[in-house]
Amino acid sequence: MRRSIPALIVCASLVAAQDTTSSIDTDTTSSIDLDAISVVVPTTVFNLPVVYVTDDGAPAVTATSLAPSAVASSDPSATDVFDSPADVTSALSVASVLATATSSVAVDKRAASSCVPQPTGINHQVQPDTAAGWVADNYFASAASAAINPLPTGYVSSFVNLNASNSADNYMGYTLMTSYDAPGCAAKCSAINGCNSFNIYFERDPSVNPDDSTCSNPPSTVQVKCVFWGGAVTTDNANNYGQWRNQFQVLIAGSNGYINSTYAALLASGKVPSGIVPRTSQEASAQNTYDIYSGYDSNVGAYSNAKASSSYQDCETACDADVLCKAFTYVGKTGGQGPGTCWLKKKLGTPTSSGTNVITGSKTGKLNTLTVLSVVYDGSDITNRVQWKSGNNIVVDATDLTRSFGSPNNDTPYQGDDVLSLLYTNGSTTRVFTTQNYGGVFTLAPFGAASAPNCVDAFAQPNTASTGIVSVVWGPVQVAVQALYDNLNGLLVSKNSWQVENSFMMGDTDPYRLKHGVVWYTTSSGTIQSQLTTEHGVYNF
Ligand SMILES: *[C@@H]1O[C@H](CO)[C@@H](O)[C@H](O)[C@H]1NC(C)=O
Ligand SMILES: *[C@@H]1O[C@H](CO)[C@@H](O)[C@H](O)[C@H]1NC(C)=O
Ligand SMILES: *[C@@H]1O[C@H](CO)[C@@H](O)[C@H](O)[C@H]1NC(C)=O
Repeated sequence: MRRSIPALIVCASLVAAQDTTSSIDTDTTSSIDLDAISVVVPTTVFNLPVVYVTDDGAPAVTATSLAPSAVASSDPSATDVFDSPADVTSALSVASVLATATSSVAVDKRAASSCVPQPTGINHQVQPDTAAGWVADNYFASAASAAINPLPTGYVSSFVNLNASNSADNYMGYTLMTSYDAPGCAAKCSAINGCNSFNIYFERDPSVNPDDSTCSNPPSTVQVKCVFWGGAVTTDNANNYGQWRNQFQVLIAGSNGYINSTYAALLASGKVPSGIVPRTSQEASAQNTYDIYSGYDSNVGAYSNAKASSSYQDCETACDADVLCKAFTYVGKTGGQGPGTCWLKKKLGTPTSSGTNVITGSKTGKLNTLTVLSVVYDGSDITNRVQWKSGNNIVVDATDLTRSFGSPNNDTPYQGDDVLSLLYTNGSTTRVFTTQNYGGVFTLAPFGAASAPNCVDAFAQPNTASTGIVSVVWGPVQVAVQALYDNLNGLLVSKNSWQVENSFMMGDTDPYRLKHGVVWYTTSSGTIQSQLTTEHGVYNF
């Protein structure tokens, strides 16, 4: 027996961290290999409300939700939940449940806020009205077994006649039925975008809210619940066997599971659901980079949790601080802004669609630091004149470089190429960025794509062969031709001179303009130097 925890939390940590697999036993008329379907066994129990009306005049909390984006709303007041048949067995031996229910509740005398009458259930009365009477009642089993023949169109049977409801992935709402109507329940699931399976069952519910000593074990009603899930309901995640409500025992019977046959076929073939959810964004904390899944939970349970005091980004800080942490799920306020709980996970698993107040992040790597090594503008080394040297985002404002740096070679923009070339380290790699004057504003970020698409195109990994030549820029682009690096490396060793022409530089990168360039190379002492070049000039290292 365990205390339940509120639904969103249950949702965030619904399943076990270990991948215990098992399968659906009940094969059906279809050719789908249901044995091939496995789900991760949940560690927590999902609870739907048992008490629907909490106050006189208050609207019934039926949580009936057919909205595509239904957010889990399990009953936070559910306590002493039965998560195994053994819990039920031991509860049945408690004297109070053997006693017949309190036959009448003092309706007139009760306070308005207690013993509030609950919706009447279906038209079936268990005799005697005890928990033991419920267990002995064959009515439930026969209704459940009849409900797979025929099956609701488009669904396969996952299990029949269990005593437990499911804690599957991606809760999508539930509804109370007026009878055990599997096709009706199926039709509702089909109408919900993303509903892939459903669970229908009988539940022994109290006729009044048993929240007072005068109504601690009231007469029961029988409710039929139809619960919708985005993930698969299976025997393995059927783990909610009921709970205590004061002296009243909530029990489940005749629980059937059905899975959309298209979805079941995909599951059986192993094609679903991993790898199909795209991240919604990428970002970095102070130390790491994260893929962000906004509006998503994931199907992996948490090993620990932490408080988010003001936003989901507090979860990144918490995850940064623990090497075990590879992912987190924030459950808090809409859009991730506001206090909440960070569920820390050892892996991401598969993101599963959830409410707008749920954000999952996956640690993708260490945050690189960007460090500028050398800056050349219009054939002149301006490394010492730039402000943007190091950090996580280097902003290069190339809207008017002449204003900032003049025209070092005294040529007009039409004569000279006015190129800015940047050599920088990004973590352990050395990279090059180039832009011409008036190119705009660029943000060089240590992760993900840079701010402008053409900026990414300008990047190229410098030559990595065993030469002292780090990188070569000619005109507006980095040259990435191995032969040039080999030639230059020979000259670096021999100290012979060379003349800078298009043919030597392996092509004309900017016809009609007088080009400048830079050859970055490593000296024998290991420092990086820039050899500036201008078209037609003669140089030696
Ligand atoms: C349902 O519960 C009863 C009572 O605990 C038990 O005897 C029975 O085996 C259970 N049925 C199933 C299918 O688990
Ligand atoms: C089963 O799922 C598929 C894919 O989402 C959907 O097109 C189909 O309508 C569903 N079947 C039923 C019976 O709802
Ligand atoms: C830095 O490297 C990361 C990969 O490690 C890459 O995603 C990012 O775009 C790079 N940023 C720059 C400015 O080179």
